[in-house]
Amino acid sequence: MLEQVKDIDFGTPRRVSAQEVTLEIDGETVTVAAGTSLMRAAMDAGIQVPKLCATDSLEPFGSCRLCLVEIEGRKGFPASCTTPAEAGMKVRTQTPKLQSLRKGVMELYISDHPLDCLTCSANGDCELQDMAGVTGLREVRYGLDGANHLKSPKDESNPYFTFDASKCIVCNRCVRACEETQGTFALTIQGRGFESRVSPGQNQPFMDSECVSCGACVQACPTATLQEKTVILLGQPEHSKITTCAYCGVGCAFKAEMKGNEVVRMVPWKDGKANEGHACIKGRFAWGYATHKDRRTKPMIRKNISDPWQEVSWDEAINYAASEFRRIQAKHGQDSIGGITSSRCTNEETYLVQKLVRAAFGNNNVDTCARVCHSPTGYGLGQTFGTSAGTQTFKSVEKADVILVIGANPSAAHPVFASRMKKRLREGARLIVIDPRQIDLVDSPHIQADYHLQLKPGTNVAVITSLAHVVVTEGLLAEAYIAERCDDTSFQQWREFVARPENSPEAMAPVTGVPAETTRAAARLYATGGNAAIYYGLGVTEHAQGSTMVIGIANLAMATGNVGREGVGVNPLRGQNNVQGACDMGSFPHELPGYRHISDTTVRNQFEAAWGVTLNPEPGLRIPNMLDAAQAGTFLGLYCEGEDIVQSDPNTQHVTASLMAMECIVVQDLFLNETAKYAHVFLPGSSFLEKDGTFTNAERRISRVRKVMPPQAGLSDWEVTVKLANALGYPMDYAHPRDIMAEIASLTPSFQGVTYAKIEKHGSVQWPCNEDTEALGTEIMHVDQFVRGKGRFIITQYVATDEKVTRKFPLILTTGRILSQYNVGAQTRRTDNSQWHSEDRLEIHPHDAEERSIRQDDWVGIESRAGQTVLRAVVTERMQPGVLYTTFHFPESGANVITTDNSDWATNCPEYKVTAVQVMPVAQPSEWQKSYSRFNTEQLALAKAAPPLDAASAAVAR
Ligand code: SF4
Ligand code: SF4
Ligand code: SF4
Ligand code: FES
Repeated sequence: MLEQVKDIDFGTPRRVSAQEVTLEIDGETVTVAAGTSLMRAAMDAGIQVPKLCATDSLEPFGSCRLCLVEIEGRKGFPASCTTPAEAGMKVRTQTPKLQSLRKGVMELYISDHPLDCLTCSANGDCELQDMAGVTGLREVRYGLDGANHLKSPKDESNPYFTFDASKCIVCNRCVRACEETQGTFALTIQGRGFESRVSPGQNQPFMDSECVSCGACVQACPTATLQEKTVILLGQPEHSKITTCAYCGVGCAFKAEMKGNEVVRMVPWKDGKANEGHACIKGRFAWGYATHKDRRTKPMIRKNISDPWQEVSWDEAINYAASEFRRIQAKHGQDSIGGITSSRCTNEETYLVQKLVRAAFGNNNVDTCARVCHSPTGYGLGQTFGTSAGTQTFKSVEKADVILVIGANPSAAHPVFASRMKKRLREGARLIVIDPRQIDLVDSPHIQADYHLQLKPGTNVAVITSLAHVVVTEGLLAEAYIAERCDDTSFQQWREFVARPENSPEAMAPVTGVPAETTRAAARLYATGGNAAIYYGLGVTEHAQGSTMVIGIANLAMATGNVGREGVGVNPLRGQNNVQGACDMGSFPHELPGYRHISDTTVRNQFEAAWGVTLNPEPGLRIPNMLDAAQAGTFLGLYCEGEDIVQSDPNTQHVTASLMAMECIVVQDLFLNETAKYAHVFLPGSSFLEKDGTFTNAERRISRVRKVMPPQAGLSDWEVTVKLANALGYPMDYAHPRDIMAEIASLTPSFQGVTYAKIEKHGSVQWPCNEDTEALGTEIMHVDQFVRGKGRFIITQYVATDEKVTRKFPLILTTGRILSQYNVGAQTRRTDNSQWHSEDRLEIHPHDAEERSIRQDDWVGIESRAGQTVLRAVVTERMQPGVLYTTFHFPESGANVITTDNSDWATNCPEYKVTAVQVMPVAQPSEWQKSYSRFNTEQLALAKAAPPLDAASAAVAR
């Protein structure tokens, strides 16, 4: 039987209190936490009170008057949603008087509502319809001819939902959802009394307003006023399954609501611990790419990249790839091939790719796209705390008093967490932002950063060390915490180092561009403002000193005692859905699953026994090393699953030249992505809707990905890797991803207690999950002691990047993301999200623009020592003079043609955030763009011409 996951609406939010009250409702005795509404207490007793304006994700509002109750000894009919339960109360929810009052309320609503229930898109899922039934409404005495809003126009401007004002009952749920849940404040109620109507902005269409299309209002609406267009098109869903968003590292849980094998809508799951029923535009609406016509669903092969692609069977494609890999190894040695896995893949898929490389390829040449985002987090937190992971749950931010955001733009890249953070900030938590740009958080509705340290790109380490200088020299250290929890020798050395005058805010100000007084004030606030939590992103890691900066952050948190309890901690905001998992699963060349070095004989022996092979004790090649080795002629075969290095990695021309030097590139992906255009074998991938597995979010939370439709190409990604291993002569045999997880758990101490059964039961599990932890794993890390024992301080000497501004390249380009697009854009570009952002633009300060006669929307040539490209200009004061910004979501933009191959000293994470450039107005695309356009057209034609199976076999045999 098809599953249908039911949500129960308790009417008002859960209250937490040590105090309890016992009362009687309709003769039932019920005990609830103090502060609980009568409506929710009644639900606890199994009694549903009619309601319209209340829902348990929002604070009660008390406007519809449908939930009236009688309380013994009290006059009148209070609203149960806004009346708190009190000890000894005797409440009645169903009396003839109440019934009559409610019927009267409903009559008024219905007299101004179109009576088209049978053809309404919400038919069967409308709370107004339900309440008409519950209250026994049979007629509307006022008739339907009075003043009404039945002719109010529809707003269809948003591509994902409609706003049909004629159906609005002005319950205010949408307005409150936008304020309380999302924190955007895009909606208001305009007018008074009968004239009051919901309005985006100042009576604007949704698309012209501040709305960010998170959909919280649509979900909150009890009628068909705000309705998903897919529901209008397809009708109400028939069944549903819980799964996990495949976009960012927040890892929101969703209920995929289906009709047959078709998704009708994605509804954020309220029991999902990462998101508690909220979502952003990407997860909620941008899933149409899964069935986009660009999907390639047939395996394809070709001998040379100038040949047409030929569609073949799975077996032919896999056998061809395996024979090519073995041929290359026979000729050029065992180390001449490798694999790249992706943070978009499930844990199980990633585990299998690294196993394939280590056991079947017989080398450690495996890497992941975490190389280019959070590898410095792995190094920095591993060195200081002993493990590479965020220390908190997202919920922990609700207990933070000071929030320090460094090099992250959560409103764009981690929107659901941003909403949670904004809620805490509106409650009064203080905010410090360290970022070269004026990101949204610095000044957004009801939020104003206390301090914005608008540093020059590339000077993070100077800033963090000068913050530490203030903590040490102004006596703000958490001495007792340090004495108990941290290594004394390293602390003493660090203290002496940061206290040096050259590390003071005054000495560093000319370097960082941050006024010394601002740095001092921020340090004082962080150290003395109560629970202080750090959230950081790629603006920290993607630098030549990325690892040093992560260490600096860990030092600061330890020095102020801000690790190991709720409300504090060090939290890397992971970019992609499974960055954490990809790292955990051993996809770096030097580490086996669970961050254990490949040179550790005991660990290696364990894997050798389980896998039945001898493992190479030497770390293999990282992605940049693979590319260099390709050009040197020693690395000639690559298996690349779910990753698009041509678009995402720096110095595009170096990447493409390296790929052209290889003999067999196997790409496994949903689309013929930029890397696939250089490939010899294409293996169709499966979207997150087409497979089972798990993702691990930035909280270390392992959640299930569930198959809701069959794989379009017939196989899920993990099955393809299994087939490839077998074709290479290394047997793999799993019936289901749960078996892969069982193997992971048996070989990885921090996953020992992780099973699919446990995840099914509890919804999710946070690692470490072993015999020392509770069943659900570990919410907060380093509680009594650090994973490594004593926390280790490490000196963070600021070293200016080699990427310096010069007369030739006088400006600094930094890169980042935008809300509606995701990473290389392969998914979001194939959805209506492109209506918000259809091209990458160059942001430039008015001063820099004026000096170069650049106006809004002008085409601007951007040149670095790596290459040239052309983008249109956005002239904005979000930028500081001397600094430019762009996104990298469109291949033709060539943002990474500009970025250089400078990288982090410890991990090779590219220095995306600092590229010295010059810009000038131009009239035509760059040479690279012209050649990209030609190559792209050719490659699409070669794929289009793919001949059928038999012809293909003959061609490859030739
Ligand atoms: S979609 Fe989100 S941002 Fe837009 S109006 Fe609704 S709640 Fe507000
Ligand atoms: S749009 Fe929906 S949620 Fe908003 S006031 Fe109207 S009926 Fe209520
Ligand atoms: S916040 Fe991230 S995980 Fe959540 S819905 Fe948006 S993209 Fe998906
Ligand atoms: S549900 Fe209580 S007043 Fe509307």
